[in-house]
Amino acid sequence: MHETVLILDFGGQYNQLIARRVREQHVYCELRPFSMRLDEIKALAPIGIIFTGGPRSVYDETAPHVDPALFHLGVPILGICYGCQLMAHTLGGIVSAAQSDTAREYGKTPTHFDTGCRLFRGIGAESVTWMSHGDYIARLPEGFVSCAHSAACPTAAICDERRGFYGVQFHPEVAHTERGADILRSFLYDVCGAKGDWSMGSYKDAAIASIREQVGDGRVLLALSGGVDSSVCAALLAEAVGKQLTCVFVDHGLLRKNEGDEVEAAFAKWDIELRRVNAQERFLSLLAGVEEPEQKRKRIGEAFIRVFEEEGKKLGAVDFLAQGTIYPDVIESGKGDAAVIKSHHNVGGLPDFVDFKEIIEPLRLLFKDEVRALGRELGLPEYLVSRQPFPGPGLAIRVLGEVTKDKLELLREADAIFREELANAGLDKSVNQYFAVLTNARTVGVMGDGRTYDRVLALRAVTTDDFMTAEWARIPYDVLDRASSRIVNEVSGVNRVVYDITAKPPGTVEWE
Ligand code: XMP
Repeated sequence: MHETVLILDFGGQYNQLIARRVREQHVYCELRPFSMRLDEIKALAPIGIIFTGGPRSVYDETAPHVDPALFHLGVPILGICYGCQLMAHTLGGIVSAAQSDTAREYGKTPTHFDTGCRLFRGIGAESVTWMSHGDYIARLPEGFVSCAHSAACPTAAICDERRGFYGVQFHPEVAHTERGADILRSFLYDVCGAKGDWSMGSYKDAAIASIREQVGDGRVLLALSGGVDSSVCAALLAEAVGKQLTCVFVDHGLLRKNEGDEVEAAFAKWDIELRRVNAQERFLSLLAGVEEPEQKRKRIGEAFIRVFEEEGKKLGAVDFLAQGTIYPDVIESGKGDAAVIKSHHNVGGLPDFVDFKEIIEPLRLLFKDEVRALGRELGLPEYLVSRQPFPGPGLAIRVLGEVTKDKLELLREADAIFREELANAGLDKSVNQYFAVLTNARTVGVMGDGRTYDRVLALRAVTTDDFMTAEWARIPYDVLDRASSRIVNEVSGVNRVVYDITAKPPGTVEWE
């Protein structure tokens, strides 16, 4: 049991960020829908509650509200933006639409703080905050005072310190709010009395104990892809139940250079059964003659499931199926409750054949950064923990057109060189995804004294927060130059290298 802060979600765009900021302060929190019932809230026994922002005005007919009884639980509350207005409105204040454009605030805003207020102690009397609101609090509820103001807004923050209620019109979770982290920290530690018991070390121990309790002497099956989530999940389960775990690692022959061996080696120190299924020929023959990208994806997805299924059958009765579901997946399911089997992002649907009693999702409370931290805590090597995303269909969607063994081999070598050069230049942390694509185009070149007629290889590198949109990475020319000349010299069959300078949208990250 961890001390818990409850974040009630009113639909604002930064809500996951609030949860991450709280966790970064070593306080466990859960982001739940605003409609969470009072008895459920009581059962969670939060040490503090945060209301998020949201797109509505409190006077909208469909505006989300809370049960006023929430204000009688004796639990401190911090309202952010809409959450601040909702608190004021519910407790008898008046929220008004800004009368003029100048009263609406959007963006970086110099803000003055009353540093006597517990929320703002020690942060200095003035700094920049990130505002994004049209409504403002025109009259404070009884018991409240204003504790921050900006040029346009006399109630940039409000508080009733006696009851532990605070509201900020700005967004402390956004990096543009200069002292945002300190303000959240003050709420958590000074107002809610948090001790900060959330660390990946303590999480690891608690998760291992709880997995052992749940699994008893049952058998656990996990599809290990070598991606961050499934690898960390495997390491945690290995630590918890060792021999009772079977990991099935389907080597479809579409992996990057040395990838299969690296994944296998990373798990060698645990006493687990790791089945590396060599299905390379099977996948290659399935892909023979197939050029259309969706066809490739479908065939790979289906074959993956079949192989997994066959391995499951060989194993006999399995009690538990483990999945590397992480917290953003849980939140995005809308109900904060992902007990149903989530379709596997990599393979388009996990088998429901396996005769299992329950699903185990030991990472379902963790954000990606936390999953990585847990992986380090468990002793997984850095290259596995910090690796970039890799699509389930693997190199098949980076070999344009028909996939053949030769093309895969060529791409693997070129891709390894590009990745190595990026890492050597220290860019592997700041560029979020980078890889090579083998095109079908052939061009004329000259090597030594001879003519060549070989393939064009494309390099792709992007920076992005969420992979929904992306910028092409501004890699220094000399790094591109080194990668290009090494590829043309070391990989026979490629005589020209191009760099993809398309953003997403309109491009996608992958070429197929
Ligand atoms: P796109 O190409 O859609 O890619 O812009 C966005 C991100 O998703 C990854 N991607 C996949 N990941 N299974 C996956 O697990 C897939 O089938 C798949 N297709 C694309 C891609 O590498 C990028 O990170």
